[in-house]
Amino acid sequence: MKVGGKKYRTIWVAGDGGAVEIIDQTRLPHEFAILRLGDLAAAAHAIRAMQVRGAPLIGAMAAYGVALAMRTDSSDSALDGAYETLLATRPTAINLKWALDDMRDHLRNRPRGERVGAGYARAAKICDDDVAMNEAIGRNGLALIEAARRKKGGGRVNILTHCNAGWLATVDWGTALAPIYMAHDAGIEIHVWVDETRPRNQGASLTAWELGGHGVAHKVIVDNAGGHLMQRGMVDLCLVGTDRTTRAGDVCNKIGTYLKALAADDNGVPFYVALPSPTIDWALSDGRSIPIEEREGREVTTIRGRTQSGEILDVTLTPEGSEAANYGFDVTPARLVTALVTERGVCEATEEGLRHLFADRAAGDKR
Ligand code: MRU
Repeated sequence: MKVGGKKYRTIWVAGDGGAVEIIDQTRLPHEFAILRLGDLAAAAHAIRAMQVRGAPLIGAMAAYGVALAMRTDSSDSALDGAYETLLATRPTAINLKWALDDMRDHLRNRPRGERVGAGYARAAKICDDDVAMNEAIGRNGLALIEAARRKKGGGRVNILTHCNAGWLATVDWGTALAPIYMAHDAGIEIHVWVDETRPRNQGASLTAWELGGHGVAHKVIVDNAGGHLMQRGMVDLCLVGTDRTTRAGDVCNKIGTYLKALAADDNGVPFYVALPSPTIDWALSDGRSIPIEEREGREVTTIRGRTQSGEILDVTLTPEGSEAANYGFDVTPARLVTALVTERGVCEATEEGLRHLFADRAAGDKR
């Protein structure tokens, strides 16, 4: 996607080849800053501190983290150490483990002297594949948006999204936002309701920034507004991403997604979930087994913003002494999901639906 007229991905190898560069997402929307990551520790920190975030991008960052680790030490024990260090950064998105498994399998049987080059090349392939998958998701989701428009007899299509499942959450295009960009580019009038997504405000800070940059009409709403809008017929469809989807179609995504799905169900609003196949956890059937990240309470008790004079400040919202609980994700049961939008097509959120599209992956894949 473009920023200020220049094409960007969210992650790339630095011109000198000695590091990986990312867009620092903790600085958006107020500042567009590029960060250079030179080693395993910097890569692990970037994931943990959410300088990069979003399930597919976490996977891509982890892949490059392994490649960077090989520059320092290309031994088997360093490979295993990098795997463990990166795996421990965030627990919920399965793309992280998927990418690490892929990197370790790819490098394990190579001579040490080849591991840096092979690591960079494999990480680049993971990135290119992510872009291709998301583009295909965009095309498949576009058909759903066109159908929603036909159903209402034309006019503007109102879409509600939660968190950031746009190009910033992936290498490019995004998952849930890819169909929105394609619909907008195809001349369909789109308006997006953007959940602010407390506590880290990925909606207000990142999704709104992305949509604005692409010229897509949108309004930021508080996280609790969606039910009201759906009752009033102001949402034609919900479209969100996911950090891990079980083989039975349960969807784990940013905290608050489940409540939107309940409201959508109550109001007959289609609830679609967009995902590239590395987000499917074939080993799990029941979403309640997915580990839910708990982050520090400080993310709830404080909020970051820009003052009128341009200063970026964290301010405290809560009384001194009040503790906060900070659950990062929740699980939307498959029965509340109208359909899954994947790179291979749209399917029911059921084991049969996923197996029909991914028979090659589903068979015996117990990662
Ligand atoms: O905590 P985050 O910002 O990494 O959470 C991201 C999400 O929940 C996204 O919706 C999800 O990763 C899908 S992104 C394509």
